[in-house]
Formats: sequence, structure tokens, C-alpha cells
Amino acid sequence: MQIKGSVALVTGANRGLGKAFVQALLTAGAAKVYAAARDPATIDAHPNVIPIRLDVTRPEDIAAAVAQAPDLTLLINNAGVSGMEGQERGNISLETLRHEFEINAIAPLATSQAFSPILAANGGGAIVNMHSALSWVNLPGTVTYSASKAAAWSLTNGLRLHLAAQGTLVVGVHVAFVDTDMTRGIEGVPKASPHDVVQRVLEGLINDQPEVLADDTSHHLKQNLSNGVYLRPIS
Ligand SMILES: NC(=O)c1ccc[n+]([C@@H]2O[C@H](COP(=O)([O-])OP(=O)(O)OC[C@H]3O[C@@H](n4cnc5c(N)ncnc54)[C@H](OP(=O)(O)O)[C@@H]3O)[C@@H](O)[C@H]2O)c1
Repeated sequence: MQIKGSVALVTGANRGLGKAFVQALLTAGAAKVYAAARDPATIDAHPNVIPIRLDVTRPEDIAAAVAQAPDLTLLINNAGVSGMEGQERGNISLETLRHEFEINAIAPLATSQAFSPILAANGGGAIVNMHSALSWVNLPGTVTYSASKAAAWSLTNGLRLHLAAQGTLVVGVHVAFVDTDMTRGIEGVPKASPHDVVQRVLEGLINDQPEVLADDTSHHLKQNLSNGVYLRPIS
């Protein structure tokens, strides 16, 4: 799809990858970006940016966002959470699992369902869902996060088939560590820059790719799924 002239909505647009998406979309010529955040006051002012209040777990917020964005052509489901604390010691928290599923897996489907009639009415457009390299493997401490991103990956694959008939491109993104608040406490691993990751996603959109592997680790893990890479500890 064309980024130039598109009208995008980015969830979790106030920091990290979401903020990088907003900046990259504007640079690539998007006509308007709805920058959605739980607190819209945290969105940087720009003439082509419309801040929107959106907690992705609140159906009433999603309905209000749909009413505010009838011209949408590109939905970027970026908002996500990771609650790894304590889990590296084997404490798998059901509360954390439910929270991560709600935001990482269920909410992207809810926003996609809510906005898909608008995308259809505007020519099809595209939906981008942020997964992770951890959709495919676990690290110590990522059991619940990995499960939520595996569910998100599967839901994206189902949604892609479902929305093909209306001409909506559904893009799943996989990437390992990115240098944002989410990985602030993780040391000694390579981290991709948010700028590089979102550039790869925009290139994928321009080339109508249904899947974007935004770093070498994601490529390596996907290539090794058939070898059972998820059965062994990842070094
Ligand atoms: N960083 C990585 O290494 C990495 C790797 C692979 C995939 N990802 C995925 O990429 C996406 C962005 O990650 P990031 O690294 O930019 O994370 P981040 O820096 O922790 O930012 C998370 C964003 O999600 C928002 N958010 C959390 N809960 C929300 C809710 N209920 N409603 C609306 N917004 C909510 C946050 O808003 P508040 O400011 O209001 O909390 C924030 O804008 C996530 O889906 C993440 O899982 C990240």
C-alpha cells in the first residue's frame, strides 16, 4: 500500500515504537496520523497529528476512536505490555498472563474488528500487528509474554484470511529486542533501534508483504522453526 497520502492510527503512540511509527509515517508522507494513547496529553504536537484517547482494553474508547477516524486507511496495533518480573525464577503468573493476553492478543483483534468496515469503505487499506520473535520461542521469564505474542500471531494469520475478501492487507511483524522502555532492564543483548524497525515495517507495507521480519534474530528463528528451535534453550 501507499504510505504517501495514507491516514493512519497508531496505538501506544506516545513512546517507544509507537512514537517512532508516528514520526516515520509523517516523514513518508502520511496525510494524517491519529496518535492514540491512554493519555493523549503525552503525544507530541504536530499539525498532521490528531491525538486520540485510547486504552485498547476499553470498548468504549475503541468505539469513540472509530467515530473520530472515518477516513482511516492504515491501523497499526502497536500497544503492548511485558510483565517478566519474577518469571525468570519460574513464577508463572496467571494474573500477568491474563493482562498480557488482554492487551497483546485480544485488543489488536478488537480494534481490527472495529476498524475493518472503515478500511473496507476506504479501499481496503492495511492493518499492522506487532508480534515478537518471542511469538516463536521462550526465554527465561517470557513464558506469559511469549504465549500472548504466539496467540497474537495466530489471530493475525486468521484475520488476514478473513479480511482478504475486502482487500485489507494484514501484516504481522516479528522482531527481537528493540531499544525502548520495554527492554530497559535487559542488558548484554543486541537491541534494534525503533527507527530501523519501523522503517522495515513501512517498506513491508509499500511492498504489500504480509509478514515483516525486522531483524536478523527473527529471520534466524523463523528459519529454524522446522528444526525445533523452540524445544531448546535459546543462547
Ligand atoms: N521493545 C522490544 O524489544 C519489542 C520487541 C518485539 C515486539 N515488541 C512489541 O512492540 C510493541 C511496542 O513496544 P515498545 O517496545 O514500544 O513498548 P513500550 O516502550 O513499553 O511502550 C508500550 C506502549 O504501549 C502502550 N500501552 C500499554 N498498555 C496500553 C493500553 N492498555 N492501552 C493503550 N496503550 C497501551 C503504552 O502506553 P503508556 O505510556 O500509557 O503505558 C506505550 O505507549 C509492543 O506490542 C511490544 O510487545 C517490542
